[in-house]
Amino acid sequence: MKSTTPTLLLGVYTAFCIHISGAIPTVDESYPYTGPAVPIGDWIDPTINGNGEGFPRLVEPPAVVPSSSKPTNNINVIALSYIPQGINIHYQTPFGLGIAPSVKWGISATALDSKAIGSSHTYDRTPPCSEVSVTQCSQFYHEVQISGLKSDATYYYQIPAANGTTASDVLSFTTSRAAGDPTGFTIAVLNDMGYTNAGGTYQQLLKAVGEGVAFAWHGGDISYADDWYSGILPCEDDWPVCYNGTSTEIPPPTPSDYLTPLPAGEIANQGGPLGGDMSVLYESNWDLWQQWMNNITANIPYMVLPGNHEATCSEFDGPGNILTAYLNNNVTNGTAAKSALTYFSCPPSQRNFTAYQNRFRMPGAETGGVGNFWYSFDYGLAHFVSLDGETDFANSPEYPFAADLTGNETSPKANETYVTDSGPFGTINGSYKNTKAYEQYQWLAKDLASVDRTKTPWVIAMSHRPMYSSMVSSYQKNLRAAFEELLLENGVDAYLSGHIHWYERLFPLGVNSTIDKASIINNNTYYTNPGVSMTHLINGMAGNIESHSTLSGGILNITAVLDQTHYGFSKLTVLNSTALKWSFVRGDGGIIGDELMLLKKPGSSGGGNSTISSVAPSSTTYVTTQTVTAYTTYCPSATTFTQGNSTYTVTAPTTLTITNCPCTLTYTTTGSVPTSKPTTTLGSTELSTAAGSTATGKTINLTGSVPTIGYTSTSSSTPPAQVTGAADRVQAASLAGLAGMLGLVAALF
Ligand SMILES: *[C@@H]1O[C@H](CO)[C@@H](O)[C@H](O)[C@H]1NC(C)=O
Ligand SMILES: *[C@@H]1O[C@H](CO)[C@@H](O)[C@H](O)[C@H]1NC(C)=O
Ligand SMILES: *[C@@H]1O[C@H](CO)[C@@H](O)[C@H](O)[C@H]1NC(C)=O
Ligand SMILES: *[C@@H]1O[C@H](CO)[C@@H](O)[C@H](O)[C@H]1NC(C)=O
Ligand SMILES: *[C@@H]1O[C@H](CO)[C@@H](O)[C@H](O)[C@H]1NC(C)=O
Ligand SMILES: *[C@@H]1O[C@H](CO)[C@@H](O)[C@H](O)[C@H]1NC(C)=O
Ligand SMILES: *[C@@H]1O[C@H](CO)[C@@H](O)[C@H](O)[C@H]1NC(C)=O
Ligand SMILES: *[C@@H]1O[C@H](CO)[C@@H](O)[C@H](O)[C@H]1NC(C)=O
Ligand SMILES: *[C@@H]1O[C@H](CO)[C@@H](O)[C@H](O)[C@H]1NC(C)=O
Ligand SMILES: *[C@@H]1O[C@H](CO)[C@@H](O)[C@H](O)[C@H]1NC(C)=O
Ligand SMILES: *[C@@H]1O[C@H](CO)[C@@H](O)[C@H](O)[C@H]1NC(C)=O
Ligand SMILES: *[C@@H]1O[C@H](CO)[C@@H](O)[C@H](O)[C@H]1NC(C)=O
Repeated sequence: MKSTTPTLLLGVYTAFCIHISGAIPTVDESYPYTGPAVPIGDWIDPTINGNGEGFPRLVEPPAVVPSSSKPTNNINVIALSYIPQGINIHYQTPFGLGIAPSVKWGISATALDSKAIGSSHTYDRTPPCSEVSVTQCSQFYHEVQISGLKSDATYYYQIPAANGTTASDVLSFTTSRAAGDPTGFTIAVLNDMGYTNAGGTYQQLLKAVGEGVAFAWHGGDISYADDWYSGILPCEDDWPVCYNGTSTEIPPPTPSDYLTPLPAGEIANQGGPLGGDMSVLYESNWDLWQQWMNNITANIPYMVLPGNHEATCSEFDGPGNILTAYLNNNVTNGTAAKSALTYFSCPPSQRNFTAYQNRFRMPGAETGGVGNFWYSFDYGLAHFVSLDGETDFANSPEYPFAADLTGNETSPKANETYVTDSGPFGTINGSYKNTKAYEQYQWLAKDLASVDRTKTPWVIAMSHRPMYSSMVSSYQKNLRAAFEELLLENGVDAYLSGHIHWYERLFPLGVNSTIDKASIINNNTYYTNPGVSMTHLINGMAGNIESHSTLSGGILNITAVLDQTHYGFSKLTVLNSTALKWSFVRGDGGIIGDELMLLKKPGSSGGGNSTISSVAPSSTTYVTTQTVTAYTTYCPSATTFTQGNSTYTVTAPTTLTITNCPCTLTYTTTGSVPTSKPTTTLGSTELSTAAGSTATGKTINLTGSVPTIGYTSTSSSTPPAQVTGAADRVQAASLAGLAGMLGLVAALF
């Protein structure tokens, strides 16, 4: 959607503790989890902290260096993302903050005179941070949004200390350029980045950040946390990620990284930027990868979309199904039937994209999309579209439960499910077999139709999965069936993806892999051909423990360039409204591995057709109230609060689900007039389902009298805006009202 979509920022909640955001997924627990309390991929020392000899974990500096050598809480990760006309500052701590998260900010590093307050969320990670070092563990996730900002402007901010954390340095971010700003810019595009093999990519990314890339766009497969079990699966020919008791085998060709001596203290299979496993714990892999990436994610917006490795704790098993025996029966080095690896095999907190949903904060809600799954944003002359190629379309690679049902069942039996079952994250208005019934498709159609090509002549889409490749696989035809026609019809210029661990440039392709020869000017220059073809680019080569993919058949004639040996990422440079430059930056020293110019044909219109104009940012503050049937809130410490006529007293950290509603939730936001539900608000369905998934907390039913339903009536200078598709009412309030609200919040926390 356009950056005209208003933003709701500073989500300040009243009358309850810390709001559990809508990103908390539903995890089905119809069948019990029967595995080890904490799955650890190490037979030699299967304890959380290891013995220092098996798989010691690599220690990376956290985002904020703790002031003491024995911190009790710490900011480990900071990551920025764009929201329309603003920024989301996401940060992570091992323990709760005891207060709502906040940042102080301003236009100068020495005058941080504004304050933004956000909300926190958490999930029942395995193991919890209380069992892991506080400088390496994240369990509480904080989202603070600042909106109503100027485009292409640099702002400064600082995260204050709270409950044992140290204040961050004064950091900065730069907002996105307004749609239509003709200034050229470069972004970093990458996919499939874990830790192993990615050292060179990391160095080149850091360099690119230094050279001013606007943001990074990571198209899924982030960290490879789900390869935690590599160390316990035996080696076999087609599964290079394995452990034979003393060593991780690396398939040929040996990456040049491995020829470089490791730094003192690092052992090849024991974690390190030059090779080897990171950790034998799923969650620690996430923690360490995110910490490693801090120098990038805290400096430029880091926009992500889902990949298959984010789905669950494991995708499949190796020989003998040793992993299945471990997860299902808590048996080490045993055997099991292949079919026994089901959705219920992973610990509940490691299913259904749970870590991914908590560890990032993308602008789905602000752009009509869904959470971290699909969304879009403008930057200067380009409109960027992030798609979910994993769930939420017909025949998606990760199935919804609906696809597992037989006969007249309404929920699948455990043995009818697959370990990767996930989603849907949007609604399906009809059959799950019909892509057009999916919210994602409907959103994409609307989003693309609303692009104003006079402002953003370039439209670039990305999902994790390619539609075409010389490595043919059945998911490609499913993805094409779902989205190709829509993308072509709307004149999308390029389709980016990853998933296959190599760099592959395809020719401009029309439907059914027709090569659009007329658009090929020369080896390194193509014309865009709206409605007829798109250029497809596969960037699965960032580097990870699974190494490069190897080509099984021959190279197809649709492939223009294939590099199966180098790691790296790509730079996409919008030069102007008619020229876009693409280059593959190799991890080994930044050598340019491929280069392509995409040009608009002289006199071409661009491709789309809409005319939504920009709404100027404003500093108006809105007070929005919503009446819900239930809501979930996390009380990080002992507190008392009132909802309606009931007063709740909490004596220990508790997740409360308040069900004696209707309840009225109130938030203040700044920015332009809200036209959709506040992003931090849950619909009543989400609320009632979110309750069951917060296993850390206690779900309780409370009785009390019904509070008054309605909306605040503060004096306003702007007429109330109608909110579409929701029962919300919005009313303008004065800044004094905001101050009052903040005061109230401070008193409550
Ligand atoms: C995953 O979570 C979504 C909500 O976020 C839920 O609708 C869906 O049913 C869940 N899918 C599975 C397979 O657990
Ligand atoms: C799993 O097995 C280990 C080792 O035999 C045992 O200590 C642990 O209690 C078992 N865990 C569960 C949840 O049964
Ligand atoms: C504050 O941090 C401590 C650890 O230092 C943790 O035990 C406690 O739960 C945190 N407080 C809240 C309210 O989360
Ligand atoms: C394990 O791998 C290492 C390195 O490839 C090799 O030297 C060793 O012989 C292997 N051990 C076994 C038991 O296969
Ligand atoms: C990240 O940046 C900090 C500060 O410049 C530096 O000390 C640290 O070594 C960097 N980390 C990595 C992994 O490059
Ligand atoms: C796992 O089991 C296999 C076959 O029983 C055995 O050869 C191997 O030594 C065992 N490995 C460990 C680490 O116990
Ligand atoms: C579902 O089908 C089974 C037989 O296939 C039948 O026994 C059962 O009564 C049916 N249940 C419902 C609710 O229709
Ligand atoms: C699946 O489990 C059900 C019981 O829940 C059982 O009746 C059925 O035979 C199992 N199916 C397979 C293929 O194992
Ligand atoms: C593409 O191929 C499919 C299957 O071969 C066919 O059904 C479809 O009509 C083709 N579409 C076009 C536009 O040629
Ligand atoms: C274009 O690419 C082909 C195939 O890779 C190569 O043989 C040819 O020399 C290239 N032409 C130019 C002008 O670079
Ligand atoms: C590419 O190969 C396909 C089948 O392998 C063939 O049908 C098609 O005509 C070829 N295209 C070109 C442009 O050579
Ligand atoms: C756009 O950039 C290309 C490549 O630098 C250049 O040849 C072209 O003249 C530019 N077009 C405009 C309209 O500035």
